[in-house]
Amino acid sequence: MPMVVENNAPLQPHNTLHIVARAQTLVRVSCEADLAAVLADPVLARSPKFVLGGGSNVVLTGDVKALVLKVEIAGRRLVDDTPKAWIVEAGAGENWHDIVTWTLAQGWPGLENLALIPGTMGGAPVQNIGAYGVELQDRFESLDAFDLHSGRSFTLDAGQCGFGYRDSVFKHAAGVSGMGMAGRAVITRVRLRLPKPWKPELGYLDLQRRRAEVGVPHPTALQIYDWVCDIRRAKLPDPSRIGNVGSFFKNPTVTPEQCADIIARDPGIVHYPMPDGSFKLAAGWMIDACGWKGKSIGQAGVYEKQALVLVNRGGGETGATGGEVMTLAKAIQTSVYERFGILLEPEPVVV
Ligand code: EPU
Repeated sequence: MPMVVENNAPLQPHNTLHIVARAQTLVRVSCEADLAAVLADPVLARSPKFVLGGGSNVVLTGDVKALVLKVEIAGRRLVDDTPKAWIVEAGAGENWHDIVTWTLAQGWPGLENLALIPGTMGGAPVQNIGAYGVELQDRFESLDAFDLHSGRSFTLDAGQCGFGYRDSVFKHAAGVSGMGMAGRAVITRVRLRLPKPWKPELGYLDLQRRRAEVGVPHPTALQIYDWVCDIRRAKLPDPSRIGNVGSFFKNPTVTPEQCADIIARDPGIVHYPMPDGSFKLAAGWMIDACGWKGKSIGQAGVYEKQALVLVNRGGGETGATGGEVMTLAKAIQTSVYERFGILLEPEPVVV
């Protein structure tokens, strides 16, 4: 199959904020040979490159001049079944939630807390996706990637991915720290480790509440999956209907002294102790406290049910621009900084 190259390609269908923008050139990558073909093409090989998965963690602020590599690598299989774990592999272009659903249907539990997160398998490690007490790094085995500089494929384990809270080496520009791989590594396949025996992860408050309400002290993985889907549907907008990228800011971490200082001024602030003694603050609570819930700038708005989520209130050509979304984000940062002395850090990649 020859590689598929599109010129002046619309990106609106490929980003969950539904922002209208175009890619000067877009290549659909359905196998590693497509990446080798890009490097073999004298014009494409020279352009800077931007790797796009499900577009659920990007804000497009204009047309993209870099060559867009739209990863559509498919395939899923069980690679190993040991007494300690199921090892499952999927192509980077597979839809994340479909993989979660498929593993559970096969009888391989472990991903239920991560149900309904938008995006692709390849995007999951970039962002180290997380929800309801589980992060991708807790279920990660290894990944294969293609190096656009050397033209070679390589494999990385968890340590080499540099996972942090909503962070990895894939979010950082190549060459800056020596470790960054953005625009250089294209993740092609990801392997997950689903530990045996399965243990439910029910520590998150929303899940504890649900468990008490339903009166099921020992839920199955499928029950937890259903609860997570229900909780997400109640709080978070469905990106197929309302454009959004999930949480727009990370929850900031502060020292115990900073936390005590903020509690003294704002006793209601939602905060969680971290294993290292620091505290994580609920950014959504702070944005809400600053009165932003339901507000808008142009067509960019703050979601009514979760202030940490910014939404595109329009659609198509009349929808929000990336500039409007970033203007709203900056206004929110300013008011949270003025009231709490904390600078919120955006979660998505701004292009
Ligand atoms: N809160 C408010 N007002 C709001 C929003 C939140 O008071 O408008 C309060 C809530 O009542 C709650 C606390 O803030 O006490 C935290 O809210 P929530 O449980 O909704 O979680 P979150 O911290 O806002 C994080 C992740 C989500 C993940 C959920 C569940 C980040 C940046 N976000 O949200 O991840 O689904 O926890 O684990 O860590 C994402 O990264 O895109 C994402 C959706």
